[in-house]
Amino acid sequence: MKWLTVILLGFFLAAEQGEFSHKTHAPLRLNCTSCHEGAESSDRAGFPKLAQCQTCHRDYAGQIPSQRIYQLPDFVFFSHAVHAKGKAPCGDCHGDVWRQQRIQLFRGVKMKDCVDCHKQRQATEGCTACHELGQ
Ligand code: HEC
Ligand code: HEC
Ligand code: HEC
Ligand code: HEC
Ligand code: HEC
Repeated sequence: MKWLTVILLGFFLAAEQGEFSHKTHAPLRLNCTSCHEGAESSDRAGFPKLAQCQTCHRDYAGQIPSQRIYQLPDFVFFSHAVHAKGKAPCGDCHGDVWRQQRIQLFRGVKMKDCVDCHKQRQATEGCTACHELGQ
């Protein structure tokens, strides 16, 4: 019976089209970093490649949307790795994405949004932590 399940699952998953939703994938309990590779180790969390979707959706030919919800201007320093080390979980800034059909802005990315949390957690408020001197 096992092979039948595999073939059926392969058939249904292969037929998927349209846009990715975190909510639909919640029951799979995937790690964030299986798709956002740098989220704990680099500045950028990054987006998955199509090949990562195709491990489950063999023939998936949709697109990974490139529209951004969370985006800082270039003159601000930000690192995901630093925040992971500082023990700020993804949800502190992005909310519970597994409940989001489409990603919604949870915590803003204005200076006040950053500094409020830095105050609370005794992290730096020094201008040069987030901005280059002289800018
Ligand atoms: C199976 C792959 C996959 C997993 C696992 C996954 N994501 Fe995503 N994520 C995506 C894709 C694809 C996008 C781009 C489409 C979209 O915005 O929904 C995305 C977008 C996002 C965005 C929006 C970024 C922006 O600026 O638009 C955030 C935030 C995010 N994911 C957080 C998370 C967190 C936190 C987890 C774990 C709790 C997680 N993701 C797990 C695939 C995944
Ligand atoms: C670990 C396996 C796995 C991975 C990896 C995976 N999916 Fe899925 N996906 C599923 C399952 C299971 C479903 C639910 C099937 C159903 O209910 O029809 C699903 C459903 C979907 C759907 C159906 C539409 C919806 O949300 O209701 C789309 C579209 C989709 N996935 C796109 C993607 C994309 C894009 C990626 C890569 C960023 C991805 N999936 C990665 C297993 C996976
Ligand atoms: C302290 C707040 C904070 C935490 C914690 C955080 N993020 Fe982010 N995230 C941001 C900000 C701010 C951006 C926009 C960065 C930019 O534009 O340079 C972002 C952007 C993203 C993006 C868009 C792609 C990218 O790399 O810019 C994804 C995906 C993402 N985060 C996933 C995650 C995941 C997964 C975690 C947990 C492992 C996480 N984030 C933890 C604040 C946070
Ligand atoms: C949810 C709380 C939280 C939010 C929101 C947050 N941070 Fe942080 N941030 C921290 C913590 C905690 C640390 C300290 C990490 C450590 O020292 O291990 C930190 C450290 C940093 C550092 C490193 C500072 C140093 O000492 O060099 C920078 C840069 C930074 N954050 C930028 C930002 C920016 C930019 C934003 C807004 C887009 C932001 N942070 C939002 C909690 C937060
Ligand atoms: C924890 C990170 C963080 C710290 C600390 C920080 N900023 Fe910012 N700053 C930001 C972010 C994020 C933005 C971009 C979003 C915005 O305009 O609110 C910004 C924007 C700015 C801007 C441009 C505002 C505009 O409207 O164009 C100026 C000027 C600025 N910061 C000055 C400062 C000064 C001066 C300090 C020290 C007293 C400081 N910042 C400390 C994160 C930070």
